Amino acid sequence: MTKVAFLGMGVMGAPMAGHLAKAGHDVVVYNRTAAKAEDWVSEHGGAAATTPRAAALGREIVMACVGNDDDLREVCLGEDGAFAGMEEGSLFVDHTTVSAEVTRELAAAAAEKGIAWVDAPVSGGQAGAENGQLVIMCGGAEDDYARAEPVMDAFAKLTKRMGDVGAGQLTKMVNQICIAGLLQGLSEAMTFAQKAGLDGVAVVDVIQGGAAGSWQMVNRHETMLAGEYDHGFAVDWMRKDLAICLAEAENLGAPLPGTALVDQFYKEVQAMGGGRWDTSSLMARLQKLSG
Ligand SMILES: NC(=O)c1ccc[n+]([C@@H]2O[C@H](COP(=O)([O-])OP(=O)(O)OC[C@H]3O[C@@H](n4cnc5c(N)ncnc54)[C@H](OP(=O)(O)O)[C@@H]3O)[C@@H](O)[C@H]2O)c1
Repeated sequence: MTKVAFLGMGVMGAPMAGHLAKAGHDVVVYNRTAAKAEDWVSEHGGAAATTPRAAALGREIVMACVGNDDDLREVCLGEDGAFAGMEEGSLFVDHTTVSAEVTRELAAAAAEKGIAWVDAPVSGGQAGAENGQLVIMCGGAEDDYARAEPVMDAFAKLTKRMGDVGAGQLTKMVNQICIAGLLQGLSEAMTFAQKAGLDGVAVVDVIQGGAAGSWQMVNRHETMLAGEYDHGFAVDWMRKDLAICLAEAENLGAPLPGTALVDQFYKEVQAMGGGRWDTSSLMARLQKLSG
């Protein structure tokens, strides 16, 4: 069993760390708002630390799932950051969705201290974290990935090394680019079905097993047709992810015209008060447009 620290007891991090404890790992948790870390300990055992550095002391693996690039820098660097507490030869596994740029920057800072890095963003949402069924796309050296994999298995249904440091985040970007276009298409289709006087649920019943089928279609059409968006993956998070995708696409010279357009549609959803709505709320924008 491995001595692990987990930084970030949010919607994703808390259940992920819970699976580590259930699997028998020795877990120390840290959260900026200390009450969440204390709640976690009363449910799962282990211990809570008051800084990332204190959580990381003597740990073989330090995992993180915080918010964005700046949040990740904050928990890694500085006097109270995790790197200050980690020993040479230990491993940092980052489950946050961040840019490839900050990933390379922090992996280099870690390497200077003899700390290995695996970027390991996840897909599967809150339900995947709670059920231990996440898909984890990883970047890092083969040996480092081999150390991380058996520990991540506690909350994953699939983990895969996609290449060197940064390749996990690049793979997650591919995922988000797919989802953006897909949800706009699904929103247009469901709005069209309603306007045409069709029973949207019956339509999806017929088409979901064919070429148009998708996870989003199967899992979101009913709530979209009902105008319910108070669940799922928030628009604010999606805009963070699309900003990462668009910046990286510019570096790579990869055109993303559709993704850039959908990003603007999400901006309009935010202006409608939908920052915390599920990403399928692109349909709410279309409903507003169509009156
Ligand atoms: N939610 C999903 O469905 C989903 C799916 C796939 C990927 N992700 C990605 O996973 C990451 C976490 O998402 P989440 O839904 O778990 O978010 P969340 O519920 O907002 O949790 C974020 C956690 O990070 C902590 N944190 C944020 N900034 C920090 C800082 N500067 N210093 C220290 N701690 C900080 C927060 O502490 P406080 O409690 O003090 O705020 C909180 O515990 C994001 O990158 C997101 O894009 C999320």
